[in-house]
Amino acid sequence: AKPARFARRLPVPVPLEPTQMEDEFGAYLLYELSEQSAAVQVLDAGAPRTTLMGYGVPGAGPSVPGPLLKVDQHTRVRMRVHNALPPVHPDFGHEMATSVHLHGSASLPQYDGYADDVTRPGHYKDYWFPNHQGPRTLWYHDHGVHHTAQNVYSGLVAQYHLTNAWERENLPQGRYDVPLTVSDAMFAKDGSLAYMDRDHSGLYGDIIMVNGVPWPYLDVERRFYRFRILMATLSRSMTLRFVNTRTGATLPTTVVGTDGGLMVPQPITSWRHAGAERYEVMVDFGSCRVGDRIELRNSSNKNNRDFLHTGKVMQFRVTSEPTDTRWNAVVTPPASQINPVMTAPVSASRRTRDIDLEHDDTTNEFLINGMSWQDVQDSDWNIFADESGTPPRPGDVEIWRIENKSGGWFHPLHIHLVDFRIISRKGGQNRVQAWEKGPKDVVYVGEGEIVEVLVKYAMAPATYPDGRSTGQAGATADQGGRYMIHCHNLAHEDHDMMLQFLVAGADG
Ligand code: C2O
Ligand code: CU
Repeated sequence: AKPARFARRLPVPVPLEPTQMEDEFGAYLLYELSEQSAAVQVLDAGAPRTTLMGYGVPGAGPSVPGPLLKVDQHTRVRMRVHNALPPVHPDFGHEMATSVHLHGSASLPQYDGYADDVTRPGHYKDYWFPNHQGPRTLWYHDHGVHHTAQNVYSGLVAQYHLTNAWERENLPQGRYDVPLTVSDAMFAKDGSLAYMDRDHSGLYGDIIMVNGVPWPYLDVERRFYRFRILMATLSRSMTLRFVNTRTGATLPTTVVGTDGGLMVPQPITSWRHAGAERYEVMVDFGSCRVGDRIELRNSSNKNNRDFLHTGKVMQFRVTSEPTDTRWNAVVTPPASQINPVMTAPVSASRRTRDIDLEHDDTTNEFLINGMSWQDVQDSDWNIFADESGTPPRPGDVEIWRIENKSGGWFHPLHIHLVDFRIISRKGGQNRVQAWEKGPKDVVYVGEGEIVEVLVKYAMAPATYPDGRSTGQAGATADQGGRYMIHCHNLAHEDHDMMLQFLVAGADG
């Protein structure tokens, strides 16, 4: 039997407490995490348990999604991640070698979750994050080479929030700021996760989960809420809307942030949401009555596989009048709080790069510019090895023209290190959608579409604005090294739709 809809309460993650530490560069925060495996009651009580792999406090077992980290802008973080997983995945049979990527962070290359830079069971790695970027919703997840899809599917995924004083004052906080990590899965009769991916096209589960629970519900007050929605599906994209089941009406929704942080608020009624994208939306339950039930619904999105209940995501039950009136409105952020990529002029672009998304029907591989990750590893090739051989420098601005030539698939393309804004969309939807008018690091490239983005390479500062060191070796205004670019349909990524690009260092 399928899990019941809207029967279990949404678990809302609370931020993990860090340990205050100090080194030669000054204070920093230590988060100690461990990748662990456990049998968890994901399906309804009485059904078999499911073996999951997740991040958790060492010795305390995994949580799926993993611990929420909430970090003040301009705070150094050291994330120590132990790999305490079994040597081999019990259901899928591959070695549990992992690599942690903080998606949305302009990390130095050695801390960016490079796919081949894996940590084996029994070992740990320290990742340093500068957190110099503005308020945004990031997430960390596994990036182990060729098994990212199964590892993320098994539960190695969590949100990470960057905050600052302006954000705390003006956007809903605490119980009105709710992280929603959406995923889909299929379960075998014995309760184990089933991984059915025909031809590497992707995994489309029949069970929708939010924060690890199938079709949960959340009690809400009659007021504004902020939802930080992360699509942590492997392949599925959704078109989402909030529907009042009493009136049938769609609730007005405002997008206030996306992958790269805050934006000029955009009123919408529904939005298309692909894997790895984050949309922060404000919804006003003040227009509802106590007793109303609101559903977050998914309408069929092109090139997905739907099942009986994949049109439902979760439910909100309006249970009371507001108990707190702070942050009960949408506020437009001042320019200082908006990612500078939103105002970088197109004329600042130093070059235009062509990125072709392709599928090889004979080998069943997904490729970028005719190349696979295997080709990249074999030749140490990088995507910018052009005639001039000049790699971009930190701070550079470029136009990337991304064309989907692969046939009947969409690809959420993710570029590490950079933030971008979408400047044009053609060949499908033919315009930049309202919800996409914010800073991005993933872009949905639909079947046959050509999307142009204005990319800005991040520059790691040597110091924070108050003069403290960012403390990262090599962070002397230097962000040189290799970064990945890949499809965030993780089945595509693993087979083998990923390349790398080289950013010039201070000495290059
Ligand atoms: Cu969220 Cu390279 O990935
Ligand atoms: Cu893809």
